[in-house]
Amino acid sequence: MARYEITGGQPLNGEVTISGAKNAAVAILPAAVLVAGKCRVENVPDISDVRILLDILEDMGVQVTHVEPGVVELDSTNVTSTHPNPDLVRKMRASYYLMGVLLSRFGEASVALPGGCNFASRPIDQHLKGFRALGAEVAETEDYVNLFPGPDGLHGSRISLDVVSVGATMNIIMAACLIPGQTVIENAAKEPHIVDLANFLNTMGAHISGAGTDTVKIRGVEKLRGGTYTIIPDQIEAGTYLAAVAAAGGNVLVKNVIPKHMDCITSKLQEMGARVLNYDDSIRIISEGRLRNTTVKTRPYPGFPTDMQAQICVCMSLASGVSRLTENVYETRFFGYCSELQNMGAEILINGKTAIVTGQEKLRGASVTAHDLRAGAALVIAGLAAEGVTRIRNIHFVERGYENIIHKLTALGARIDRVED
Ligand code: UD1
Repeated sequence: MARYEITGGQPLNGEVTISGAKNAAVAILPAAVLVAGKCRVENVPDISDVRILLDILEDMGVQVTHVEPGVVELDSTNVTSTHPNPDLVRKMRASYYLMGVLLSRFGEASVALPGGCNFASRPIDQHLKGFRALGAEVAETEDYVNLFPGPDGLHGSRISLDVVSVGATMNIIMAACLIPGQTVIENAAKEPHIVDLANFLNTMGAHISGAGTDTVKIRGVEKLRGGTYTIIPDQIEAGTYLAAVAAAGGNVLVKNVIPKHMDCITSKLQEMGARVLNYDDSIRIISEGRLRNTTVKTRPYPGFPTDMQAQICVCMSLASGVSRLTENVYETRFFGYCSELQNMGAEILINGKTAIVTGQEKLRGASVTAHDLRAGAALVIAGLAAEGVTRIRNIHFVERGYENIIHKLTALGARIDRVED
């Protein structure tokens, strides 16, 4: 077990380069199974979720070659199994994409229910509803989903999602790629990684239109060919560094970002008093003096992301006045970190799906525990901004989604160490 030890109170200064988007990578890498040929994927983040996924794919017969840091070649010509290793599948959330890709390419799949961060009950009924609409029989056991063609075979279909779901939108897009006929997904999610997945698949020969709007159309094709694709920068990693500078103070150029993807986050940090300068593919943030209180409501993209809820809560904990933070996607998400922040001196009152945060002059270092990925990121930010030493346990959660976090923060002047027990 390892932990982070942070001596807080240093402003952050310098430059940080953002890695490839986790939530795009964990969809695009399994999507390579749809391609009976070689895909070269660039800007792949070196994070534990990606490593697990590559192990799963290799175990299924995908030839995985690490060409250089951040570049992976996947050759799915000889996939030998439609039954990915359940122990590995249960280690992460996004393994559910294997259901869609295996159904599409082989007409069948037997996939264990996914694991990953359990900050809320995370049903996959909308994924399964989509597969059924595409003509699949779905046989569920307590911990498995088995998919095979129904009596009418697999075919395109019209699916209206009951909730806006990132995972269901991506899974149905993947499933529909090689299934004959047209599929239309209505009430689709619009996150940047959905557009990225569609761009990847279109580069490989798929016919997908409308990604990034609430109606996505997929015309099934017989096969996909290989190609090269570069994953977009990580919106949430970038947002986390921006929030860290806002909370700890400083002046940082955040490089390799798509500023448009960041508007929902930077507009809030500006409201709180940080200066934000957008360039073509970077953002400078300058934070001096105390932040101001604000109101944030999480929403699907282009709203404020639920994956930034915990990080903005740290900023609110240090702002003047009372802030309100409402969670509209995963209502139980506050429980993953608010009590830990309270141990550091934050004043947070949870009332249903709203946290009322009374800003404090200072947070103080404490021993805290990360309970999920973004909760862990928030504790890192709190540690950077707090007076004294913060020790964070369960950092494997953080390392699921943040490439080289120690190195990147140290380069900005932070005093953070990874200590092996
Ligand atoms: C993805 C992200 C996660 C992010 C979340 C919301 C990945 C690997 N993870 O998770 O980091 O926090 O989007 O932006 O990309 N829902 C259902 N039934 C379903 C699916 C979802 O009721 O079949 C509900 C969920 O409980 C939740 C909401 O829909 O309330 C949104 O979930 P969804 O967008 O699917 O999240 P994930 O794809 O699991």
